[in-house]
Amino acid sequence: MAETSVFDQILDYSRRPDPYPLYAELRETPVLRREDGSYVVCTYREIVALLHDPRISVGRPEEAGGGLPSADEGLPGLPPGFRSDPPDHDRIRRLVMRHFGPPRTPGRVEGMRGELTEIITGLIDDFEGRNRVDIVDDFAYPLPVIVICRLLGVPTEDEPRFREWAPAFAETLDPRAGDDVKRRHAAAAAELGTYLNELADMRVRQPSDDLLSALVTDDGAEGRLSREEVLGTTSVLLIAGHETTVNLIANGMLTLLRHPAELDRLRREPDRVQSVVEELLRYEPPVHMAPQRTALADIEIAGTTIPKGAHITLALAAADRDPGRFVNPDRFDPDREDKEHLGFGGGIHYCFGAPLARLETQLALCELTRRLENPRLVTDPPPYRRNPALRGPRHLLIEFDGITRSPG
Ligand code: HEM
Repeated sequence: MAETSVFDQILDYSRRPDPYPLYAELRETPVLRREDGSYVVCTYREIVALLHDPRISVGRPEEAGGGLPSADEGLPGLPPGFRSDPPDHDRIRRLVMRHFGPPRTPGRVEGMRGELTEIITGLIDDFEGRNRVDIVDDFAYPLPVIVICRLLGVPTEDEPRFREWAPAFAETLDPRAGDDVKRRHAAAAAELGTYLNELADMRVRQPSDDLLSALVTDDGAEGRLSREEVLGTTSVLLIAGHETTVNLIANGMLTLLRHPAELDRLRREPDRVQSVVEELLRYEPPVHMAPQRTALADIEIAGTTIPKGAHITLALAAADRDPGRFVNPDRFDPDREDKEHLGFGGGIHYCFGAPLARLETQLALCELTRRLENPRLVTDPPPYRRNPALRGPRHLLIEFDGITRSPG
């Protein structure tokens, strides 16, 4: 019983500013059975094993293993996309990847570097004349929304609608989500689906160079994605594309401001940014718990048998502080040699948008540290979002003496 209450304490909002001591307690039981019969796995080695285990499904117990779930548990009301099991998952992912990265479209993400820099510069230019901003509302939130909308070809004037829909999706990842969350989500999913369907029709008639146009017109060797699959994948991209990156940028600024020597070093040596971002993905990751999985068979792990049909939560953030895997895991150390982490998950569901999230965050943190003069936190800890699975500050107020002009 004691172990169950550790996980319940982690879910409790009061523990959001610092769940890490509780994760240490949780790791004493690598595979924990909760009172409702679901399981929480929290140590590095065990999570990696399960992420690569074909006996784990992303579907609901009743549909798991049946290939394509009829309506994903996380996304009721929306057709399936990435959150399906092989072979459908792998086919869908390959078809979308053709337009997002190597070997067919190697320049898609790197080609956005100039545009990203321009957006970031514009957002920081808007700080001019102020000495206090909210890094979340004034910077970290707008940036990924603009970027993912441009990538997919969502017209600029429609961007605000995604800010309304996105929270309804994010809250479904909260392990405590109840019927009210499901209702809000179903309504948002229906609206988003209708919106994307109309946009897809437009792109079929008049393709452009965006990802949605590519998906609805591609006739590769493996055929085309069905319209349902296009809607499922694009909605996940839109939502995953900004409810996570916002937290990485905000957690990143918070961590750097708490480690002023690291902030100074980054300002002087911007090439360090890759190491800084990788360490942030381990030390203060945006995704603390992967969306729930279901066991397709009895699975024996770390001396416990997870029975067929049981729900499984993978506590990624607890594993990334596992002393069995990392030396001094509670230390923020961008110089650590071992740069592996579970910040983007692993196995077949490894984050599809990782190259874009990395580039966005690297450019954002470089520019913020370079241009903000004498930045400092106004409140520490800041207020957090409620969600324990997608963890990050709701607001991050900082003060500074001024901003350095952008070159050119
Ligand atoms: C810092 C930002 C991000 C973080 C920390 C993050 C983290 C993750 C994690 C942990 C997973 C694995 C979930 C699981 O195993 O169930 C995942 C999957 C995914 N992510 Fe991200 N993500 C980020 C940004 C993005 C962006 C920008 C996009 C879209 C462009 C994206 C699209 C996806 C998709 C589509 C999947 C599902 C892939 C699959 O099931 O095959 N993510 N992400």
